[in-house]
Amino acid sequence: MSDFETLMFNPMPPLVVDGVAACSRLHKLWEAPDREKALAEIAPRIRGIATRGGDGKVDAALMSRFPKLEIVSSFGVGYDDVDADWAGKHGIVVTNTPDVLNDEVADTTFGLMLCAVRQLPQADRYVREGRWTKAPFPLTASLRGRTLGILGLGRIGRTIARRAEAFGMRVVYHGRRAQDDAPYLYFPTLAGMARACDILVAITPGGAETRHLVNAEVLEALGPQGIFINVARGSVCDQDALIAALRERKILTAGLDVYADEPNVPKELIEMEHVVLLPHVGSGTKHTRDAMGQLVVDNLRSFIGGRGPLTPVAETPWPATRRAS
Ligand code: NAP
Ligand code: 8YV
Repeated sequence: MSDFETLMFNPMPPLVVDGVAACSRLHKLWEAPDREKALAEIAPRIRGIATRGGDGKVDAALMSRFPKLEIVSSFGVGYDDVDADWAGKHGIVVTNTPDVLNDEVADTTFGLMLCAVRQLPQADRYVREGRWTKAPFPLTASLRGRTLGILGLGRIGRTIARRAEAFGMRVVYHGRRAQDDAPYLYFPTLAGMARACDILVAITPGGAETRHLVNAEVLEALGPQGIFINVARGSVCDQDALIAALRERKILTAGLDVYADEPNVPKELIEMEHVVLLPHVGSGTKHTRDAMGQLVVDNLRSFIGGRGPLTPVAETPWPATRRAS
């Protein structure tokens, strides 16, 4: 057993708990009768943290409690809950779980998009409520002849784009820069792309840089037949502006997997019959969550074994981030 001490705040999937316990001395904070007392006792020895969204912010205040901290292994590709800039400046490497979830999240995005465009959950409710016997379900919008605008043509964005091509859709994108190898039309402004597309999918990271990129102006540009799909982070969209745009029919509908204050979904959205709401399940299959969990473990195991992290985030490149011992 390695003498490397790792901290986990709340239970992660069993594969992660067992894997981390097998390669380090794991402290399960949720089992401590007094969390603060336990933290104070172990903090000076902690060199690794395994975390996931829902654990709260892994920020400067938290990380600075662990003077020997070397690695934060985060479950999920998005790591907006971890202050990676601060970590990098303090010799702490942050890892995430990229690529292993691209297909799953792209599949979910298409499911959500089809549900919102074709109103499939509403059609299901229609049958269950016995309303079909009285009248046929109303005709809906269609994917036919539609242009998909992707906000964030990264690993997942490109996977969504390939599916859209197979569906016969035209694809355009917006990001901070044009990508030479992307066979899609680039829009230098988000409002410009929103004007040119019918379905806008957000799939960027969260955090300060992307906060409220999708605002009232962008939704207005998307227009009354436009559909907004958010599989990025709730923070990427101004939720109040979205509620207003939906209420005033400035856009046709929305499909949302993420929200400003999860797991709390505003009553205004819940009461809107034409909107489709998912509980942040973009990557939520056993297959993909296992692959993500294995990568959390493999990052720690490789790091502890002296082979460096497998998937360090951009703010903490390896080995430049190595903490002086
Ligand atoms: P990625 O490969 O890093 O792609 C992110 C894309 O966002 C890049 O193309 C980047 O393009 C663009 N971007 C970044 N900052 C931007 C800005 N300020 N304005 C406009 N575009 C910006 O990441 P990924 O692996 O595809 O994951 C993307 C995100 O999806 C994650 O960070 C997470 O928030 C979300 N996600 C959600 C779920 C879910 O369950 N709903 C699951 C997985 C991931 P440029 O650099 O050219 O700007
Ligand atoms: C995860 C996600 O379910 O990878 C991400 O960025 O949003 C999801 O795949 C989530 O991070 C788990 O905590």
